[in-house]
Formats: sequence, structure tokens, C-alpha cells
Amino acid sequence: MVAFALIPFLLAGVSPLSAVAAPLQGLTITAASVKGAPIFPPINYGLSGLCKLPLLQEICAIVAAKTSSGIQVTTPIGVAAGVSDGSGASRFPVKYASATRWEASTISTKWTLPTGATNASGLPLACPQPLVDPSTYAEDCLSMILYVPTSLKANSGAPTLLWIHGGSFITGSATGPGLDGSKLAIATNSIVAVMQYRLGALGFMAPSGTTNLAVKDTINAMSFLAKVVPSFGGSASKITLAGQSSGAGMIRALLATPSASSLFQSAILQSDPIDYGFLNASTQVALQSSFNTLTGCTASNKACQNALSLEAIINAQVTLCSDASSIDPSTGTAEPVRPVRDGSLITTPLDLTAAFPSVNKPILLSNVRNEAGPTIFSMFTAAIDSSIFEDAAQGSLGDARASTVMASGFYNTSVSDTRIPLETLGTDYVWRCPTWSLARSWVAHGGKAFVGVYYTGATYPANNDIAFCLEAGSVCHQDDIEIVFGTVPNPTTAQAALTTEMQARYKAFLTTGSPNVAGLLPWTAATTTDVHAHQLGGTPTPSGEVPAGACEQSFWGDSVDYDYQVYGI
Ligand SMILES: *[C@@H]1O[C@H](CO)[C@@H](O)[C@H](O)[C@H]1NC(C)=O
Ligand SMILES: *[C@@H]1O[C@H](CO)[C@@H](O)[C@H](O)[C@H]1NC(C)=O
Ligand SMILES: *[C@@H]1O[C@H](CO)[C@@H](O)[C@H](O)[C@H]1NC(C)=O
Repeated sequence: MVAFALIPFLLAGVSPLSAVAAPLQGLTITAASVKGAPIFPPINYGLSGLCKLPLLQEICAIVAAKTSSGIQVTTPIGVAAGVSDGSGASRFPVKYASATRWEASTISTKWTLPTGATNASGLPLACPQPLVDPSTYAEDCLSMILYVPTSLKANSGAPTLLWIHGGSFITGSATGPGLDGSKLAIATNSIVAVMQYRLGALGFMAPSGTTNLAVKDTINAMSFLAKVVPSFGGSASKITLAGQSSGAGMIRALLATPSASSLFQSAILQSDPIDYGFLNASTQVALQSSFNTLTGCTASNKACQNALSLEAIINAQVTLCSDASSIDPSTGTAEPVRPVRDGSLITTPLDLTAAFPSVNKPILLSNVRNEAGPTIFSMFTAAIDSSIFEDAAQGSLGDARASTVMASGFYNTSVSDTRIPLETLGTDYVWRCPTWSLARSWVAHGGKAFVGVYYTGATYPANNDIAFCLEAGSVCHQDDIEIVFGTVPNPTTAQAALTTEMQARYKAFLTTGSPNVAGLLPWTAATTTDVHAHQLGGTPTPSGEVPAGACEQSFWGDSVDYDYQVYGI
């Protein structure tokens, strides 16, 4: 049997081109070269490349210091310094927590500027991550930026949207492209907080075996907000989590954490690769043991651990990520370092492998039309032959699941370019269908869920070099981010209209738990039998809904298991 999960579906915040495609130049991909294990030649590059991904660092010059003016807000933990540039929102950078290396973070008890900022115009440094200039990050990185509409008065009870960035849990920051929350804050009349959390080994591989430090960071971020938002006009009880890709995966982890439940009222998950369940505890132990060997520090040797340079830790992490799927195939290849179902913090997989808990929060789940576009079209830079489809399916899903997929009729390989059905397959099995499955389970157990698919997007910088993502009608992974934030540079009429629509729907969702707004097409809530996936942008169908395709429970999740079912994670 071949190794599973050979298609390394890349997640947010990563540029597959630079990481994966460069070694492929000149490589002719044929059915013959794809046969055998590993079935996909590029996978070898993908495995090692994935954890060396460049940070999409683009410290946005959000507010030119010279045109901004200082603002002060008194909070229970001291005076918050912010800046306003006349756009209608003020920006307050802050360090919400501090952490000793590989220990749980503690909430700030005094308002403090983030590391990297000497005054309120400054922006936080990112958390340590591979392949970027070390001067762009600091280990002391638990920062967030609050964007507050200048019209909000203290104690006016406005909602807060806490944004959790993507990047496969190893890259990304609060200052990535398009993440200026000013316009979203103004349009939704809410506070938008864009946060950072510890990434990679520093967030998930404490040598002592303590798990989920990064998840605990996000819990501290929520507790911090509950303390301070009333001073800015917010309500401590109206916090909604929103995030994209692994940021949405983090939110899924928080939905599976009973102790975090009282800290937020609702959640928005954009493009969560739900096929990757949480790691199970024994897998984490295996990864941890390998990591400790790589650093040369035993679990109890704090002196050794504290003496490690950030470079040494990141190098060990990169090697660990490359080795992860051979240590335990259930890690998959795209985000082997991720939240762990430890049984104490995260207590449920929230999937089809275990009893689903009772739930009650409203959730909004979205995908983009071509989630797998960046992966497939940077892995294969020219059209590929139809025979590769089956090999790729077998390499990713195993022979049994691949035969069912081949026989299903859902994926038409009689097209001139097999990358098209391969992209649909990846989008379905990693993202769209498990998302719909979560929606069905959610409503079956007491919650409300709204499901959407983006048919209009705005090419995210990481996708700029992928011709497929630039084609009319393609909406690649991450292409929803700038639409939601209202930060599309020179938006087309369609993009501007979708930004207006999504911000109006988010505004409603933050206050009522429903994205329905007078004047917009009705967005029907999911039921246990029909998720009523709403089409976002594009040319709307009369029903406003998109076809289910392969995403019926009877196919994905039932006839064909998701990876989390195969591996029981
Ligand atoms: C404030 O911070 C900005 C950005 O870090 C920096 O360029 C500027 O020199 C600082 N201003 C003062 C007065 O320190
Ligand atoms: C964890 O996953 C492995 C396979 O990856 C499986 O063998 C094991 O039974 C799982 N353990 C638990 C506690 O679920
Ligand atoms: C598959 O695609 C080909 C080429 O576009 C088309 O002619 C054919 O009708 C399609 N088959 C199915 C079953 O949709």
C-alpha cells in the first residue's frame, strides 16, 4: 500500500510556488513518473518545503505616522495609546499576554505596547517562523491590534470580532497583507482585534510535553478582550471569533474546548481544512519525542531548552515537519504541527469519529470555490494527462477510497487538463465536504450553522504567480481575506459589491447570530439534510445556493472516509 496523503494541500499563508515549484522546473510529469511510491515526485519537495514556507510578511504601512494623531483610552489596566489617521477608525497595538518559553502564557495586567513598537504608531513583530529575516520576529510576540471605529463611545455594548490569522500554524502574523481591520470595524460598527499566537514548535511542542500552548494563547486573548473592550465601547459578552485556514482550524479547536466556551458567543470559520482532524495524544507524544531528539534537550532539562537559539528551534521544527508523516501518517503533510485533542483542554474531535457534543453557538462556515487551486496548479505548472488523476487519488487517499472516487462520476477526467478535476477533488476532500459535514453535525446537536461558498474573490499576494488563480471565475485559497476586510487594492465593481455584502452580513451575524440582512438574498440556515450552501458573489443562481456535487453525506464522509476517519484521530 502506498503512503497516504501525498498531496500536500497547502494552507493559508504559504506560497506553494516558492516552496514547492522551484525544484520542479524542467521536470516532466507523466503517468510513468507518477507511478510507484512516492506516487507524486513533487511530494518529496512538498514535504520538506512545507515547513520552510516564507512568511507573507508585508508590514502594512497602515497609518503613516506623520498624518496620524494620538488617542488615549483609559482601561482597567492602564491608558491605551492609539493612533487615528482620519479614516474613521483608530488603531491600538497591544501586548495581550507574555510567556516564558514553552510555558503557558499569562494575560497582561498592564497596558503595554507590543515588542517592536516604541509608540502607538508601531506595529508588532511577528512570532518566530522559518525563512524570514529574524529581525521581523520576536519570541515575545503575543500581541494584537485593536481597530476601533472613532464613533464608538465607551460602554456602548458593541460586538468584537477577534481575527485569527492562517499559515498552517507555522507562519503568518497580525500584520500580513490585507489584515488592516479599520474598514471592517467601521462597516460592522464593531471592534476588530487581529491577534498573534505562538507558531510552530514554540506554540505546540513544549519539550515537557505540555500541549496546545498556542490554543491557550488564543484563550488568553479572549480573556484580555473581555477585560478591556468595554473601555472602547465593546461588550465583554459579544465576542465573535473569525479566522481563515489554520486560523479557522484554531477556532474549531476552541469550539471543542469546553473551558473556552463562555468567552465567545459565535464563530466564523473561513476555509478550514477540516479533513485534518486534531492530532491525537499519542501522535503528539511521538512528534514531541522526535522534536526533543532533534533539539538535543531532554523533557526535563530546562537549562538546555532555554539555551536554544530561535534558529536552532526553527531548524528542528523544519526537520520535524519534514519527518512528521513518516513518524505517524495521521499527521498528514500540510500542517503536521497543530492542536492536539488532549482530553483536558480539547475534549472532542467535533467530527464523525466520536459522539458529537451538544452545542448552541451560531457558526458561519465558508469555503472558496478553488481551495486546492494554489496547491495543484503550482505543483503541476502545465496540463497533465488523465491517467495521473487515478494515481494522484491513490497516492492521497489509498486504493480503496480512490476506486470509489473514480467510480463516482463526480470527477470528470475526460477533460483536456486533468488539473481541473484534481483541484475539485482536493477542494472537496480537504475543505468543502468536511465543512458541510461539520455543519450537518452542528445543527443536529443544537447549534445554528450558515454555510457559504465564495464565487468572487480577490487574488491574495501569495496567489499572484499562479496563473489558474488569476483566471476569471477562479477563487483560490486566501482570496476571501481581502474581500472580508475590505482591503482589496483597486476593487472591481463585483469585488466592492461582495465586500459591502459580506461586511453587512458579518455585522448582522455579530449582533444577531444570523447573516441575514434586509435587501440581500435570504441565506437559509443549514439543516441536517441540506446545508443550503449560499453562493457568495459570482452570478447568483435563482435559489442563491450552490450545488452539493460530491458533498452529500452519502458520499464524502460515508462512502469515502475523510482522513480523520481513516486514521481515527
Ligand atoms: C514611533 O514609531 C514609529 C514606528 O515604529 C517610528 O517610525 C517613529 O520614529 C516613532 N516615533 C517616535 C516619536 O518615537
Ligand atoms: C492515535 O492515532 C493512531 C494512528 O495514528 C492510532 O493508532 C491510535 O489508536 C490513536 N490513539 C488514540 C488514543 O486515539
Ligand atoms: C466530461 O467532460 C467532457 C469534456 O468537457 C464532456 O464532453 C463530457 O460530457 C463530460 N462528462 C460528464 C459525465 O459530465
